[in-house]
Amino acid sequence: MIKNKAILWGSASAAYQIEGAYQSEDKGVSIWDVWSHIPGKTFEGTNGDRATDHYERFEEDVALMQAQGLETYRFSIAWTRIYPEGSGTVNQAGIEFYQKLINALLKAGIEPMVTLYHWDLPQALQDKYGGWESPNVIEDFERFARTCFEAYGDRVGYWIVMNEPNVFTHQGYVLGIHPPGVKDEARYLKVCHHAGLAHAKAVLVYQEMNFTGKIGSSIAFMPAYPASEKQEDKKALEAYEATANWWFFDSYFKGHYPEIAVQHYRMKGIMPEVSSEDLACLKAGADATDFIGINYYQTAMIAHNPADGVGLGKMNTTGKKGSQSESGIPGLYKYVKNPELTYTDWDWSIDPNGLKYGLNQLQNRYGLPILISENGLGAFDQLTASGEIADDYRIEFLKAHAEVCEAASNEGIELLGYCTWSFTDLLSWLNGYQKRYGFIYIDFEDEARKRIPKKSYFWYKDWIAAHKV
Ligand code: BG6
Repeated sequence: MIKNKAILWGSASAAYQIEGAYQSEDKGVSIWDVWSHIPGKTFEGTNGDRATDHYERFEEDVALMQAQGLETYRFSIAWTRIYPEGSGTVNQAGIEFYQKLINALLKAGIEPMVTLYHWDLPQALQDKYGGWESPNVIEDFERFARTCFEAYGDRVGYWIVMNEPNVFTHQGYVLGIHPPGVKDEARYLKVCHHAGLAHAKAVLVYQEMNFTGKIGSSIAFMPAYPASEKQEDKKALEAYEATANWWFFDSYFKGHYPEIAVQHYRMKGIMPEVSSEDLACLKAGADATDFIGINYYQTAMIAHNPADGVGLGKMNTTGKKGSQSESGIPGLYKYVKNPELTYTDWDWSIDPNGLKYGLNQLQNRYGLPILISENGLGAFDQLTASGEIADDYRIEFLKAHAEVCEAASNEGIELLGYCTWSFTDLLSWLNGYQKRYGFIYIDFEDEARKRIPKKSYFWYKDWIAAHKV
């Protein structure tokens, strides 16, 4: 089933953002089920209780994917459907749901691409031992991964172990805006380490089981430029790259932490304990990892930030352009606006060329095949009176990025696939339902949750038809 030397054109989603049915068929409670019900934590109290009703309507969604000609579809497995308590007894209903989804995709000629962890940790594990802060989570995650490989490994060609470990750790343990809402850098680093070990262990289990598919993890990748040619801005960029990017990429794909970041965290006295056994595990996991996954949305511009400079800022979760405040790490670096680029309503830069720049960086640093597991534009879409959504801005965005992929592949970068974010409109964790990414419009105010293909749906259909090999 795996296609070589050609980009698989696909689209993506994640369980919590689309499935709904959050209490159906013995599903356990995840940390997001709890967090989103705490007043003030998400945009206007939005949650994934119902989301798009995908759990009940997956066949309709797969039919829309097939009609569009998708070559691959990336989705995640909710850990709480398989192990409602995180460990212990397997829930057969959960196993069967993904069984049916995978079979429907294969029947439609679509390659399933499965994410194991897209942030919905079982609440039971958070309560039992503090979730990712405890090394116990590694063993429980390994068991969950093994169960998924056993159930679906014969039919799934691509596995993404972790989705954006840099985001869920930073937002959950530094910014405190994702569960469990902690603001403590030392605890953050510990959690990063456990997530990295969980990636490595899952990859090693997969290797031991002798499947023929490919396995990796996806990091949120924000390549960056220095604000000027000044030495202080270049140094700031180096610190940003070491702590925000290579800290994750190196540990997952090389098996060790970057020295500059290690020195920095040692100086601050917060470097987590990394045993030689851990290092051996990270290294073995990295050696057995087949590809680097990246979720690419934007680039950053980095400038010098003095010791008394700007700290954590306010994120734009409302779509009010310009409401994002300046932020940084005092003494290390800060993010500044790039005067060369335009920005979305949520203050994300738009930079297709930055994707090319980032792909080259990864190629030079790691030399592994790359999978773009997310790329997309979050926007306010308008449903016209005649029932259409003319999202030309999204077409322009996706086309520019898809063209970069083509060019990179022609120049010798081994690109396994390109998945747009997202197939249908869905819940944006902190930004609610008004920030839309999908090819399929869904009116979340409407009980019927009717699926309406946007103009971009038809554009991508033509793109795939013209570019599939
Ligand atoms: C990635 C996540 O961070 O980007 C997705 O993997 C997420 O789950 C997507 O939805 C877009 O981010 P946001 O914050 O705009 O929803």
